[in-house]
Amino acid sequence: MLWEGDTLLQVGARALAILSTLTEAPGRLVPKHELLERAWPDGRVDEANLKVQISTLRRALRGFEGLIRAEASLGYRFLGETAPRNPDRNIPRRRFSMPRLLTQPIGRDNVVADIVRLLKENRLVTVLGPGGIGKTTVALAIAHRLPDTIADETCFVDLNSIERDDQLYGAVARALNFPVGEAPTLEQIQVALQGRSLFLVFDPCEHVTDAVALMVEHVLGFSDQVRILVTSRESLRIGAEFVWHLEPLEVPPPSLIDTAANAARYSAVQLFTRTAAEVSGDFAFDDESAPAIVELCRRLDGIPLAIKTAASMVGTLDIGEICRGLDQRLSLLEPDRQAAKPGQRSLVSTLDSSYDLLPYNERAVLRRLAHFAGAFTLDAAVAVVGDDTMDASVVREAVVALANKSFLIVNHQTRPPEYRLFETVRAYAATSFRAG
Ligand SMILES: Nc1ncnc2c1ncn2[C@@H]1O[C@H](COP(=O)(O)OP(=O)(O)OP(=O)(O)O)[C@@H](O)[C@H]1O
Ligand SMILES: [Mg+2]
Repeated sequence: MLWEGDTLLQVGARALAILSTLTEAPGRLVPKHELLERAWPDGRVDEANLKVQISTLRRALRGFEGLIRAEASLGYRFLGETAPRNPDRNIPRRRFSMPRLLTQPIGRDNVVADIVRLLKENRLVTVLGPGGIGKTTVALAIAHRLPDTIADETCFVDLNSIERDDQLYGAVARALNFPVGEAPTLEQIQVALQGRSLFLVFDPCEHVTDAVALMVEHVLGFSDQVRILVTSRESLRIGAEFVWHLEPLEVPPPSLIDTAANAARYSAVQLFTRTAAEVSGDFAFDDESAPAIVELCRRLDGIPLAIKTAASMVGTLDIGEICRGLDQRLSLLEPDRQAAKPGQRSLVSTLDSSYDLLPYNERAVLRRLAHFAGAFTLDAAVAVVGDDTMDASVVREAVVALANKSFLIVNHQTRPPEYRLFETVRAYAATSFRAG
C-alpha cells in the first residue's frame, strides 16, 4: 500500500523520529531499543513511552494505522511503501559494529574500487588470501567507502570472537544490535534482516567456513537487498560466490635498479619505510639502505604483516642483519613470538591460527614441503614428500588442500602448475617447534 504523504501529520518530535526510523526501511522489523535510541537519544527511557508514541502515530495515521505492525515483543515494522529517496537528501548510512580504519592502507585504492564495483553486480564477494596479506584492511576500507547507492546500512560482523559454527548466529545478532538472546535461530536472523538494504561483512571466516556458507546461501535466498563481503583464507564454495584473490603488496621486480627513488614507487617498500620510520627516529631510507629493504620485501613475498614485523625490528637490528637473519629461519618469527603481548596481533599467532585448523596429514605434508627451496610441481611434491606412511594420493590431496587454504602460491601459467610456499609459511613450517 502506498502512503500518500501530502497529509500533514500532527505529531511531536519523538513520534516523528519513530516514524522516520520505521519508514527508512519499509518491511524491516525495527527492534524496540533502536526506536528508543532514535526517539530519546539523550538517555534511558521506559519502554512504555514507546507504546504511547506508537499509539499517537496510529491515531495520526487515521485509516492507515495498520501500516505500523507490532511484532511479538521484538519491535515494529512499517508495512507501507515509501516514495524513492531524494538523492540530494544526504541521509547518513547506518553502521553497526564498524571498527575504525586505524591506518590508511597503502597500495589498495584500485583493489577497493574494483571490489566496490563488483559488489554492484555480485551479491557475494569473498576476499581470499593467506594470513596477514591485508584482507581485513581491505574489507574495512570497502565498508567505509561503500557508496550509499549500494546499501542503506552496513554491518561488520567480527568473527574473531567465535570458535565454533554454532556461535555464528549469536555473533550476527550481536553485531546487528538485535536482541534475540544468546542462541538465536536462523529464522530470527531472517526476521531481523527482512526488508533491509544491508551490506554485511563477515571477517574472518576460515574457522567457521561451513556455517558461514550455509547462512550466506540462506540469506541470499530470502533477500535480494543484502550484499555480503566475506574475508577468508579459504573460499565458501557456494554458487553465488565471486572469489577475489587478494594479491600481496607490490614488490620491485628483480630487474629494478634498487635506488631509493625507484624502490619507493612500490607499495611493499612504502609499508616497510613507513613502519620503520614509526619505530626508529634514526631510520634512513637512501640508496645505501634501499637494496637490503627491497630484498627483504621480495623475500617476504609482499605480505604486509611480515613486512611490518621485519620493519619494526629496525629499532634494535641493522637492516642487513634482519635480511641475513631470514636465512636462519627462526629469526623473523622467534623475536616476534617473544615480543607479542597478550591480545597483540603477531605474525606467529597468525600462522599458529592457520596451522591449528589443519588436519594431521596436511600438517605433515606442509612440514615436509618446507624443505623445497623454490617452486615445485605436484609430481615433485609426491616424489619428495611421499613415503611408506603417506602414499601419492594423500600427498596430492594435501597439496591441493594447502593451496586452497592459502598456504601455497599456485602458478597456473606453467604447465603443469607450480606451487610455492610463502616464505613466512616455510620458515614457520620448518621450525622444529611445530612437531604436532
Ligand atoms: N595495504 C596496507 N597498508 C598498510 N598496512 C597494511 C595493509 N594491509 C595490511 N596492513 C597491515 O598488515 C597487518 C595484517 O593485515 P590484515 O589484518 O588486514 O591481514 P589479514 O589478511 O586480514 O590477516 P588474517 O588472515 O590473519 O586475518 C595489519 O597490521 C594491517 O594494518
Ligand atoms: Mg583478517
